[in-house]
Amino acid sequence: MRWYAGSDHAGVALKRHLVELLRALGDEVEDLGTHDEASVDYPDYGAAVARAVVAAPGALGLIVCGTGIGIAIAANKVPGARAAVVHDTFTAEATRAHNDANILSLGARVIGPGVAEAAVRAFRATPFEGGRHARRVEKMAALDGCLPDGDRRP
Ligand code: RB5
Repeated sequence: MRWYAGSDHAGVALKRHLVELLRALGDEVEDLGTHDEASVDYPDYGAAVARAVVAAPGALGLIVCGTGIGIAIAANKVPGARAAVVHDTFTAEATRAHNDANILSLGARVIGPGVAEAAVRAFRATPFEGGRHARRVEKMAALDGCLPDGDRRP
């Protein structure tokens, strides 16, 4: 599985930990920054991860800021991105199964590393259910003016 990861300064330590976990599980992860605790702006990293995920069909994104919220709002401005703020294994599974979320967003000031690890494992292991949910994901993509994989509509 291929991932793109990104965080601001508030999320960098948790992101680093989760990137190591994903690599230990055998996944390929490109860390798009930030790489240290110096203060940066989360929209830059949310957008960078979202653009990379949309450009690589099948890839997933991992983004982390203090709450997981700001960086997800920014990521979701990129057509084709479906970034979900997740707090536990239930929300991680539900957003993959129902929303076909392609970016997992976590709040480093909200959850600890144990819950975050469990959420990453659940997100990674859960497929999109399709069926009635596909129609809803298509409607979300239409709001972006694109297809669910991020391709522009004909
Ligand atoms: C940074 O202080 C903080 O605002 C940011 O990490 C995030 O929580 C924004 O949503």
